[in-house]
Order: sequence, then structure tokens, then C-alpha cells
Amino acid sequence: MSRVTGVLRRVARKIWKKVISPCQMALIKATDNVERTKQRNYVKQNYGISVGRFTHGYDVNEIGEGSVIGSFCSIASGVKIGQMNHPMNYVSINPFLYYKDRGMIEEDKAIDIKKGSTIKDDVWIGNNAVILPGVTVGRGAVIAAGAVVTKDVPPYAIVGGVPGHFIKWRFEDDIREKLLDIDWTGWDISRLKRARPYFYEPKKFIKAYEEGIL
Ligand SMILES: CC(C)(COP(=O)(O)OP(=O)(O)OC[C@H]1O[C@@H](n2cnc3c(N)ncnc32)[C@H](O)[C@@H]1OP(=O)(O)O)[C@@H](O)C(=O)NCCC(=O)NCCS
Repeated sequence: MSRVTGVLRRVARKIWKKVISPCQMALIKATDNVERTKQRNYVKQNYGISVGRFTHGYDVNEIGEGSVIGSFCSIASGVKIGQMNHPMNYVSINPFLYYKDRGMIEEDKAIDIKKGSTIKDDVWIGNNAVILPGVTVGRGAVIAAGAVVTKDVPPYAIVGGVPGHFIKWRFEDDIREKLLDIDWTGWDISRLKRARPYFYEPKKFIKAYEEGIL
């Protein structure tokens, strides 16, 4: 690659990062609270991040490539998810050793590092929480504001602190188990609309489901 091409590429990358990408993301943040399949496809294709329907508040610039975020999640501001580790066993941790765009190698070098996190459906992540790469947050879990989550979080647990520790369960054991058996996050819109009045009371929701009403 010539010097001129290199410079042009760097300028284009800067414009993309500073102007185009934030504009696209502002659009997505403003609108992505329902069935925004187009935006989610865009995020998947351009950022390698999958996001489920109804999930809102995510900022792709704060999420590591390869992360998988479920449906119905709520992500507060300043949250960072699955951002990659740097290799720590080379002489330097600087990416010039593995990214060709730093101008020191001909091809990107494969590196063996943790990257991306998995956030299951219906998770709420509080302000400024950090979910480290490789971590899976179970369905319905809550991550407290400011937490640094270093280990997997069980479904319906509330975890907070640095490093993240278990605070309490959202529901008693039997309710958690039954809710996990109900695949409501996969229901279509008309079924969700029908079931919506039951969502406010977990016991009634489970009973109605077991009786075949939902
Ligand atoms: C996690 C959270 C939901 C818990 O709320 P809550 O059920 O009312 O919990 P409580 O205030 O009763 O606290 C329960 C315990 O957790 C601790 N705790 C609460 N929030 C915590 C936090 N962010 N980090 C660490 N510990 C926390 C409390 O100190 C308390 O500990 P104790 O039992 O030893 O006294 C809430 O504290 C929180 O972090 N909310 C995020 C708010 C936010 O970021 N909103 C963004 C808009 S979407």
C-alpha cells in the first residue's frame, strides 16, 4: 500500500468513526425500542454484534465485536460490554504487533484473546457497568450501576460491585425456574400483546401460562 493510500485510509477511518458512525448510532439509539430489524442488521454487518428485538440503549462503540445481546434488554448509559483483552504475553501490549493498519506488518495476525460477551434476553445493565469479555449474563439478570462483572451471572440474579458479586435474586427459586421454562421472549407480537396484562405479576403470569391462557 502506498503512503498516499495509507493516509487516505486513515482519514476515511477517522471520518467514519467521528462523524458517520456516531450519526448512525444516534439514529439507532433514538429509535431502536421496538422491531427495528434494519438497524439490528446494520449493527450485525458493520460491527459483528448481534442484538435482539426490543433491546434498547446499546451503543455499539462500547461493545466488543462478537458480542451477542438478547432481546428485551435495557442498557443504560456508559455501559461497556465484551471489549477485547489485549494479548499480555508479547513484549508490548500495543496493537502494532497484530493489526496491519498500524503499518508494521503486512497482514493482521491472529491473536488468542478473550473478546465479546453474551447477554441473554431481558437483562438490565445499570449505568457505567462493565461486562468483561467471555462473560455470559443469564436471562432476566440485573447488573447494578458501576459493576465490573468478571464471571458468568445466573439467570434472574442481581449482581453489583467491583468485582461483581451476587446481591440477591429477583424472584424466589420456584418462580425463577418456571419463568425460565416459559419462552416468552420468542413470542410473536400478537401473543405478547395478549399476555401483556399478566406480565406485571409473575405468579399470575406463570399460572395463566400453565392453564393455557397465554
Ligand atoms: C442494583 C439495583 C437495581 C438494586 O436496587 P434495589 O433492589 O433497590 O437494591 P437496594 O438499594 O435495596 O440494595 C441492596 C443491596 O445491594 C447494594 N447495592 C445496590 N446498588 C448497588 C450497586 N450499584 N453496586 C454495589 N452494590 C449495590 C446495596 O448497598 C445493598 O447492600 P446491603 O444489602 O449490603 O445493604 C440498583 O441499586 C442499581 O444499581 N440500579 C441501577 C440504576 C441505573 O443505572 N439506572 C439507569 C437507567 S436504565
